[in-house]
Amino acid sequence: MSTTDDPLAWAREYTPVLQSLGDEHEDDEPLAGYTIGLATHMEAVSGCLVEALNRAGAEVLFTASEPQSTHGDVVEYLDDQPGITAYVWEGMTDEEFDAAQHELLEREPDFLLDDGCELISKCVADHPEVAETVLGGGEQTTAGITRAEAMDEEGVLEFPVYGVNDTPMKHYFDNVHGTGESALVNVSITTNTVITGETVVVAGYGYCGRGIARKARGMGAQTVVTEVEPRKALEAHMDGHRVMSMDEAAEIGDIFITSTGTRDVIRREHFEKMGDGAQLANAGHFDVEIDLDGLAEYAESVTEPREGITRYTTPDGRHVNLLADGRLVNLTGPASEGHPAEIIDTTHAMMFVTAYDLLTRDHGLGPGLYAIPDRLDRDVAERKLDTLDIDIDAVTDAQEQYADDWRHEDSAF
Ligand code: NAI
Repeated sequence: MSTTDDPLAWAREYTPVLQSLGDEHEDDEPLAGYTIGLATHMEAVSGCLVEALNRAGAEVLFTASEPQSTHGDVVEYLDDQPGITAYVWEGMTDEEFDAAQHELLEREPDFLLDDGCELISKCVADHPEVAETVLGGGEQTTAGITRAEAMDEEGVLEFPVYGVNDTPMKHYFDNVHGTGESALVNVSITTNTVITGETVVVAGYGYCGRGIARKARGMGAQTVVTEVEPRKALEAHMDGHRVMSMDEAAEIGDIFITSTGTRDVIRREHFEKMGDGAQLANAGHFDVEIDLDGLAEYAESVTEPREGITRYTTPDGRHVNLLADGRLVNLTGPASEGHPAEIIDTTHAMMFVTAYDLLTRDHGLGPGLYAIPDRLDRDVAERKLDTLDIDIDAVTDAQEQYADDWRHEDSAF
């Protein structure tokens, strides 16, 4: 049996959409002459995005979007390829992560592809002379869109940014199915416990939370949802989950998973009510959803009973287990590899077409956050259907006329 020392080999097989983009553009190299700065979770599937952009002619400078989610073998492999430079390594500290992002920006990239908007924020805040020359950018995740919106409202964005997260091809699949499956799989692997029969509390019923709750129920869990938005709360209720405040949920939950995009969703008053052995995990982008300082202050002692688990013993002797330091559980746990490759394939295809569209077409867009043109989203969807060998129907002329005929003059009734 032979093994491969190419850490991207397996991921390439499961990223057919990205591969199709690389194949299509490798001869004409439409991105030649451009330098793209990319910040993302650096594992094998992200490596396929780096490779596809490079095949299309771009020089790619890549860094992490989260210091703990990096796979060193992938970084080393890519860094050895011509036209690709790494500004990241496995095990980097938060300070090293910041410094590496600044170093990348000092190379004056023409385009920024981001996940969490850290690279774009740093560019605008700390490298204004670089921001002035950047031609455009793309942002991949919900938390990053929130930051980009705030920057846009404040009028500090210096270039057009496409909101990749807000396309159907991203959030209907990546957030719902990718986060849903990979968060639960990683909770289970990290703790070596079952999901079935447990009470799983999901904080936030947005795209990610909906996927986590739906899949937890599919695995046999009792599901509880907490929300702050009344319509999302009602949706969760109508989808068959129990909806209650975190105060109530804290008393009955076995596993808690946050995916809200905001801070302090689980805090001291909740830790005080949790049962012995409660497991806490976060699937939101930043490690602020569980109040980690509050947990440390409340605890009498802290131990590490198993890799990836920090155990807080409370003054009354209960154990509260925190997974993956409260960072993204599906990306930073001991066995975490992020979303399944087929899911990230379409997300990264949207990142690819973002760079391609903004760099090769003159849209005349000024600075600001923009929705991605629907044609790009459809194109990625069609490519994905092709890879699945799925045919769909085409709208007929009669159906088109019917849609335009608001008087319904040609209708039978
Ligand atoms: P979303 O905006 O669709 O959903 C967030 C939900 O949380 C909303 O319904 C909101 O009302 C609710 N919420 C806000 N504050 C709350 C609180 N205090 N308590 C309970 N609910 C609250 O966002 P989406 O797409 O679901 O993303 C959520 C987070 O997950 C973001 O940080 C995003 O960046 C991150 N994300 C993580 C991924 C991963 O691989 N783990 C993948 C994609 C997104």
